[in-house]
Amino acid sequence: METVSADDLHYGRNGENVLMKVIGISAYFHDSSAALVIDGEVVAAAQEERFTRLKHDSGLPVQAVRFCLEYGGLTIDEIDHIVFYEKPLQRFERLLVTHLSEFPKGSAQFVNSMGRWLSKRLWMKNEWIRELGCRADQILCSEHHLSHAAAAFLHSPYDRAAIITADGVGEWVTTSIYRGVTDSSGSRIEKLQELVFPHSIGLLYAAITAYLGFEVNEGEYKVMGLAAYGTPRYLDKFEEICTVNDDASLVLDMNYFSYNWHAKNAFTPALEALLGPARKPDSKLTLPALTDDDRRFSDIAASLQKFTESYMLKLVQHAHEITGEKNLTLAGGVALNCVANLKLLGEGPFESIYVQSAAGDAGGALGAALYMTHVIGGIPRRPALNHAFLGAPIEKWEVARFFSDCGVPFRRFDTTTDMCRAVADCLMAGEVGGWVQGRFEHGPRALGARSIIADPRQPDMRERVNRKIKFREEFRPFAPACLAEDMKRWFVLPEGRVEYMTPFMCCVANVSEEGKKMLPAITHVDGTARVQRVEAAHNPVFHELLTLFKEQSGVGVLLNTSLNLKDEPICNSHGEAFATFMRSEMDFLVIENCLVRKEDCQWLSRDEYPS
Ligand SMILES: [Fe+2]
Repeated sequence: METVSADDLHYGRNGENVLMKVIGISAYFHDSSAALVIDGEVVAAAQEERFTRLKHDSGLPVQAVRFCLEYGGLTIDEIDHIVFYEKPLQRFERLLVTHLSEFPKGSAQFVNSMGRWLSKRLWMKNEWIRELGCRADQILCSEHHLSHAAAAFLHSPYDRAAIITADGVGEWVTTSIYRGVTDSSGSRIEKLQELVFPHSIGLLYAAITAYLGFEVNEGEYKVMGLAAYGTPRYLDKFEEICTVNDDASLVLDMNYFSYNWHAKNAFTPALEALLGPARKPDSKLTLPALTDDDRRFSDIAASLQKFTESYMLKLVQHAHEITGEKNLTLAGGVALNCVANLKLLGEGPFESIYVQSAAGDAGGALGAALYMTHVIGGIPRRPALNHAFLGAPIEKWEVARFFSDCGVPFRRFDTTTDMCRAVADCLMAGEVGGWVQGRFEHGPRALGARSIIADPRQPDMRERVNRKIKFREEFRPFAPACLAEDMKRWFVLPEGRVEYMTPFMCCVANVSEEGKKMLPAITHVDGTARVQRVEAAHNPVFHELLTLFKEQSGVGVLLNTSLNLKDEPICNSHGEAFATFMRSEMDFLVIENCLVRKEDCQWLSRDEYPS
């Protein structure tokens, strides 16, 4: 496997005037993704799960690559470079070294994982040639954290910035500090400091997520939601087993953790001796806590969250000291901790912070492509990407034909304003609906392209959406989408620092006193909300809906959650959106300019729409 270097570059070698076309790929861990960058323009980016319907699909993103090529009007032959987001041999080396150093512990898991590597992963190039139809000379590899850093910096609004990447683990690295610079000589990303496996804030969070009975790489959001119900009375225990040094490096006491040698069990009996018995995954959790155990679990979640926030603040302060930069970009799974991000905004030393919409591994594909383009290829950077709508679109004519073919009565609107007015009427009547517009979002958040929307003023709306539509844990909060011009009325955020965080729902905000009274369905138990700021320039149709809803309600805010059912990926196509609508108790569904109502579909059997 080759490494990305200037020698690999064949773009323009003969002086020909051609565009540089790069595909980035992340795969084989979770949230596989592909991205297409043409001469620095991010043309398309999507997670494989949106096409395969397998949540967090970790396979080679064959369908996502196919989508990117089709959207860009290219064949795989026309792509200059296909860049993998990490170095497989270094990851393999970590597995070998860590397992052998712990031998004979975890030897059964070791044999299993070796089987996967020896039969497939080590021969990744062959799979790519076979499945994608590419050539060997197109394939290159970046580094995991460098891909995160590139994704964070190269389409940020900054010419120079400190970059922090923090996740579970890449090849070896778990946390990094970089400096990114773009000037007249090009773009550079310089590594200043790194922390390596097994010491990792992301793996600490994952291990406690497992301890609390939630699925790793899925349940971290639940732990964040649960934390708001507890008090951090176990913080001293976390400080006992996790040492933070002056240079913001973290040392975990590995007597309490087993993720370095066991593929399934992340923690040891010593952790249960310290914190009490772990929660059984299927056990009922009642909140606000009615039992001692539920209180303990929410307190442990609160303690973990508090420790994470303190650690990230220390890391950010250290990055500021060693870089002297004014701006910060964040990436890696830990950058999706929107509660910690508020603390970094409010108490951190940086003047401005940017977190991209797909800060986790899905964004690594984009970062790999951007690094190849701008740093290796020397292509000038484009303006900051101010939206996340990089997925597949839906054609208006397809929607009308689909409903006609299904025999479903629907209303088709001539103008966007008429459609938004009809949807606002539905919302004012207390209805909950699906909202599908344009290209789907890149990243884990629904930002008004594939959303479920409802009136946030109704006290029972949160419970109703949870019990009848999303079928998920009651303690998880719902997020609001808010007109950009009304943000200050409803939400309290650090002055002047939030411009680049709120469009992608990357940080929570404190709900204003008026908001707490008026918007009960989106106000979490701790008085916060993970707000999305909706700009007319970047999200015009959703902005118009909010405006028309405000005309009737006085409130330019909607409850906005992703268009999916529990344990399913967010919808991609109009067919998936309709199937989700039929399998839930949503009242209406609008796709582009067509609106269907559940009352008109009662004659259709739900059995026709299996999950
Ligand atoms: Fe990562």
